[in-house]
Amino acid sequence: MLTYKVIIGFFLICLSGYFYYDFTSIRTPFSNKRNPWTHQYSSNKDVNISDYDCPSCSWNLYTPNPSFTKFESIYEFNDEAIPPETPPILCIPDSFGYTHEEAGRIFPKIDFPDCVEKLPHKYPFLDLDVEKNILTMNCSKVSKYPGRYVLGMSQEDEELGVKEYTIPFEEYPGKPVKLKNKEEWAYATCYEDRDEYLEEAAYHHRPKPEILERPAQESPIVFISLTLDSVSRRNFYRKLPKTIEFLQSLEDDYKIFDFKIHNVMGEYSANNLAPQFFGDIEYKTHKDKVYKDIFWEKSIWKYAKMAGFVTLFIEDGCTNDLARYFGRSIKVDHIGTYFWCGAKRFNNYENNMESQRCIGRKNSHVYIYDYISEFSKNYRQQSQWVFTHINTAHENSGKIISTLDIDTRDFLKAYLTQQKGVKIVLFINGDHGMRYGEWFKKIDGSHEHRLPLCMFIASKSLLDMIPNSYDILTHNSNRLTTKLDLYTTQLHIFSLLSQNITKDSEEYKRYKQMTTERFQPISYFLEKAPNNRTCESIGVPAFWCSCLKFTEITNSTYPNFVRKLADEVIYQINEETNSPRQAPYDHICQKVTLKEIKKLWVLSISEDFYKFHIMTHESEKALYEAVVLVTTAPLRARSMLDAFTINPYFETGKKRIWIAYIRRVDSYAGICETITKARKISSELCICKNTDEIVKNEPNLSPLIK
Ligand SMILES: *[C@@H]1O[C@H](CO)[C@@H](O)[C@H](O)[C@H]1NC(C)=O
Ligand SMILES: *[C@@H]1O[C@H](CO)[C@@H](O)[C@H](O)[C@H]1NC(C)=O
Ligand SMILES: *[C@@H]1O[C@H](CO)[C@@H](O)[C@H](O)[C@H]1NC(C)=O
Ligand SMILES: *[C@@H]1O[C@H](CO)[C@@H](O)[C@H](O)[C@H]1NC(C)=O
Ligand SMILES: *[C@@H]1O[C@H](CO)[C@@H](O)[C@H](O)[C@H]1NC(C)=O
Repeated sequence: MLTYKVIIGFFLICLSGYFYYDFTSIRTPFSNKRNPWTHQYSSNKDVNISDYDCPSCSWNLYTPNPSFTKFESIYEFNDEAIPPETPPILCIPDSFGYTHEEAGRIFPKIDFPDCVEKLPHKYPFLDLDVEKNILTMNCSKVSKYPGRYVLGMSQEDEELGVKEYTIPFEEYPGKPVKLKNKEEWAYATCYEDRDEYLEEAAYHHRPKPEILERPAQESPIVFISLTLDSVSRRNFYRKLPKTIEFLQSLEDDYKIFDFKIHNVMGEYSANNLAPQFFGDIEYKTHKDKVYKDIFWEKSIWKYAKMAGFVTLFIEDGCTNDLARYFGRSIKVDHIGTYFWCGAKRFNNYENNMESQRCIGRKNSHVYIYDYISEFSKNYRQQSQWVFTHINTAHENSGKIISTLDIDTRDFLKAYLTQQKGVKIVLFINGDHGMRYGEWFKKIDGSHEHRLPLCMFIASKSLLDMIPNSYDILTHNSNRLTTKLDLYTTQLHIFSLLSQNITKDSEEYKRYKQMTTERFQPISYFLEKAPNNRTCESIGVPAFWCSCLKFTEITNSTYPNFVRKLADEVIYQINEETNSPRQAPYDHICQKVTLKEIKKLWVLSISEDFYKFHIMTHESEKALYEAVVLVTTAPLRARSMLDAFTINPYFETGKKRIWIAYIRRVDSYAGICETITKARKISSELCICKNTDEIVKNEPNLSPLIK
């Protein structure tokens, strides 16, 4: 049985590489195939919706800024401390992610050196002056050789996506080189024979004369969206402690709001960026290069431009991850991507590489931070819309994210000082959370993916333009929010340049309609999310929802198929503990058998979900919880270390069954936990055989057991 599954699983993983492109579009409903028994429970009877028609409830009361005092400090575990209300907040996740102990085990902490330490010498020698249009080098401290350089291409040829970089090296002529082609960057070395890991790179923003000539705006607004790929809220706290410390001490000119239930809308970057860029649209992958701005008409950068914002889109991947959905020629004023195709050539840079991403003297992401600072300085008389996507944490080891900490803190510190007096919204967020590390076996792991970081830093001068904004942002930071809201939020921020709208205005209703006709989005700054906001009401597919609302089945005479689903859970527990893939021990855990389904909850939206509490014959106290998905939708197989296998399942037609997670509800600490940890077996799932026997057979375990 196992071999059969391993082979099929492996086959699926190989196939999934091939089908990857087709499977990444929106999860579409398969409602006609629902199980009728399950579906009869679909309307949640625990909730009386008329309770939410409630003029005196928190989301209908607004406190003006001068009277508002209940600001929240930002702390990692504030997520678990969201104050309960009546009527209840319907979306409160069962888990907000890993505990420190779990996270420390899966992602150990690593310190990385300064990039300069990795270089053969420490001297800076390259200067690229985009104002005077010259490149200067000075290698005299390092060698007699004058050095070599490679220039970037013209700013006008920037586009999204992979593009091979082949411009040849030139020897430095010993005197400044004139730039002819509006280049913004260059790579250089002082060695004649060095073709990789060059010691220096320079990248500078080159302002466009036609933009500099625009009349100065009286009170410009800057909106920056700093998207850190694959960063969950909790991982941001764990891995960027210095940045957090800085944010906790922000001066009074700025306010910060930490959105604790910011739910993804799909698995990948594109699934989460599309709603933020274009609202509620249908999109798909394009296998060929499309030299268009596919969704220009609905694009947020079009509205930014129309409102009078200068636009920048800068991304450090040199990948097609976004281009193949949105097109390569997006119509923003500045694009920055090709520099990292240079890094691909010289540094073997890949946007999923599992080692530190130094480019010359700095980490890859620092070039983005510097570029944004220069962009904002150069265009200080204009309103600005900036989007950046930083890929540093986009890799499987979970370690490289640490290189973001000092650089991000330094950037924020310097940037917020530089921008003092400017009306600014700086939005730091993850597109999604971590897509690695048992994220399909454990609820904590899966919620690290579903709950990305989402923080807003805003200058008080901007917040004071919006009635009740302190209260609204504080409230919303404790409610379900999604990527779709970001579209409405941005339209609202743009409007501040010319008018002052209220939440009841026609203009605001129009922004919401422009965002979506189906769901109920909000501007984070203008309207409070009601307590009855659910994933369904805001377009989060059930599969990716961190707060699914199940209905408990009180009649414990279950139909037969329910038992079959529970058997699948038992089967997977035994797979994990008796033939764990990382360690071949079968003398430690007992093979468990199903004794009783203690409780069952169901949810039938577009697919059928079952949540079990299960007891086994082998333990009096072990109580397992598992969520099982039954669907006709194509599911992509995952690495067996990350996820349970997908198995065929027949019920009113051909379906698939997949276990989203299994966890223990009771506490399971003790000798069995110590032994299983030492043997890399899931402690949560294992009911040990006689521990004295185990230790007798494996004497080297005994020092662990005192
Ligand atoms: C819901 O609550 C309202 C007002 O509290 C009550 O009149 C109504 O009967 C309730 N409906 C249900 C289905 O319990
Ligand atoms: C919340 O409940 C109110 C009152 O019943 C209703 O008008 C509103 O549409 C609901 N909102 C959501 C997001 O479900
Ligand atoms: C180059 O660097 C050397 C050593 O720092 C310095 O003495 C010299 O003046 C520099 N030359 C130029 C042209 O900057
Ligand atoms: C915007 O409008 C609201 C409601 O009319 C008002 O309370 C607020 O003071 C106005 N803000 C500004 C900056 O004009
Ligand atoms: C409980 O469910 C069984 C079958 O699923 C049904 O026959 C029985 O009538 C139900 N009992 C009640 C009290 O609804």
